Amino acid sequence: MNASDAIHWTLDTVATRLGDPKDEIYARLFAQRPDFEELFIMDTDGGVRGSMLSTSLNCVLGVAAGSETPGLLLEAARMIHDGYGLSDGDIDLMFRIIRDVCRDTVGEDWTVELDQHWTTLLDTLSQIGATPD
Ligand code: HEM
Repeated sequence: MNASDAIHWTLDTVATRLGDPKDEIYARLFAQRPDFEELFIMDTDGGVRGSMLSTSLNCVLGVAAGSETPGLLLEAARMIHDGYGLSDGDIDLMFRIIRDVCRDTVGEDWTVELDQHWTTLLDTLSQIGATPD
């Protein structure tokens, strides 16, 4: 399986087994970083959270498929989020949580090969648009 197929397979499997992963992803994000929850205080209907997650998933799928455009979205997101005081590492956390929810949902079907594809993808995402140290 190539990277793109592996990531597609993962997200399809999560959709089948869990449905929309949005609630689980944000619950974990806010459990790890309670300070992030208050940033969404104005998002009373969850619309911003939904659209932020779909942009993040587009980045995940697009970068895995080798497309350039999602990288531009990620670069823009890093710049905009810098304005809310979020570091590159904070942005990377969103992708790590997405991977963690996928891994736990896929459960025993999570192979070493899948894990490697996700690790490589997270490394690549962490470098796109990031400010050098
Ligand atoms: C843990 C990491 C992140 C936190 C805490 C965070 C926080 C936020 C907050 C507070 C907003 C709302 C800003 C406002 O409307 O005033 C927002 C919007 C947004 N974020 Fe993030 N963000 C994170 C990661 C990401 C990532 C990885 C992406 C995409 C690559 C992303 C894409 C977006 C987009 C597209 C919006 C605008 C959504 C809309 O209004 O339709 N964010 N983010």
